[in-house]
Amino acid sequence: MRDQFGRRVEYLRISVTDKCNLRCVYCMPFEGLDWLKRESLLSYEEIASVVRTMAGMGLKKVRISGGEPLIRKDLSHLVRLVAEIPGIEDISLSTNAVLLADQAQDLRDAGISRVNVSLDSLQEERVESIARRPGCFDGIMQGLEAAEAVGFDPIKINVVLIGGQNDDEIEDFARITRDRPWHVRFIELMPTGSNLELSADNYVSCQEALAIIRRMGNIEPVEGPAGNGPATYFRFPGAAGTVGVITPMSHNYCDRCNRMRLTADGQLRPCLFGSIQTNLRDPLRAGADLVPLIEETLHIKPERHYLIQGSDEGSGGLVALSQTGG
Ligand code: GTP
Ligand code: 5AD
Ligand code: SF4
Repeated sequence: MRDQFGRRVEYLRISVTDKCNLRCVYCMPFEGLDWLKRESLLSYEEIASVVRTMAGMGLKKVRISGGEPLIRKDLSHLVRLVAEIPGIEDISLSTNAVLLADQAQDLRDAGISRVNVSLDSLQEERVESIARRPGCFDGIMQGLEAAEAVGFDPIKINVVLIGGQNDDEIEDFARITRDRPWHVRFIELMPTGSNLELSADNYVSCQEALAIIRRMGNIEPVEGPAGNGPATYFRFPGAAGTVGVITPMSHNYCDRCNRMRLTADGQLRPCLFGSIQTNLRDPLRAGADLVPLIEETLHIKPERHYLIQGSDEGSGGLVALSQTGG
């Protein structure tokens, strides 16, 4: 699958629910959103059917995201269905890890090989105030321990940089990678309708983070752990893990974009941002051939995003990244 700019698309991010058990300040409004209705969600069989069609067109990699994917019942059933599809080589998961401890082994057995975990602070009170859910910290820590215990590899930690809330922990996060095989990725906050003030006032660039880390010692650019995403990686000499940066705002990486997204209600989105999406759900339920629809969507994949800090103009009406799977 190639788009009109020559980018090869072989990676699909699948959102299995728009709901989440946390309310991270940059991601979702505290009061939640108008949730999708049960009947508008794709069933696991329907998701697998879309993946099967796309695998026939060249899809190789799948990431399961949300909202928070682990709140949807029996997620390992979906993983099993996708793992059986010829051509799919890599199935990964993006999660907040609150519910991971109970499900880790099952998901690993089903075919998830690696996980990316959101963790915006190493301090209990801060994690809970950024996530706006008191009591979530212990579950997240247990989830991370379970991730290591069952052998997910690599384990990546996503840290969205928020000025005044976690940017004084950049060194602490970087230090961890010296001893633990974690891949800590600092992410620049992207503006959506529900975080405009934060994105205008509390944005911290990854260059600032790297400058702080360089003061701790020499870091060298490295290829980094297996992955399909936009991160670039560095390593302290001899360190067990790596430090990564994801720079949607300061260094746009759209020219290397290799992905499309499937929302929980079956919209195929060629870009995380913008308003273009194709309804695959209704044609799928009507028994139509999805190939032409997927090809058309690929053809109109935008060249890049047009995000503007503190404005929802470029996000195409997106209130929260939880609606599209981040
Ligand atoms: P791997 O490299 O395969 O591990 O995955 P990933 O880094 O793409 O996945 P993850 O879900 O951990 O996403 C990390 C961050 O990158 C999140 O903040 C995402 O919103 C952001 N991100 C992922 N894909 C895109 C994209 O296509 N465009 C933009 N602008 N941001 C993205
Ligand atoms: N900007 C940057 N990253 C975000 N994420 C969610 N919302 C945003 C945002 N506005 C991240 C989460 C998660 C990943 C899938 O997307 O922290 O790690
Ligand atoms: Fe790809 Fe759109 Fe993300 Fe850019 S913003 S990397 S074009 S999905």
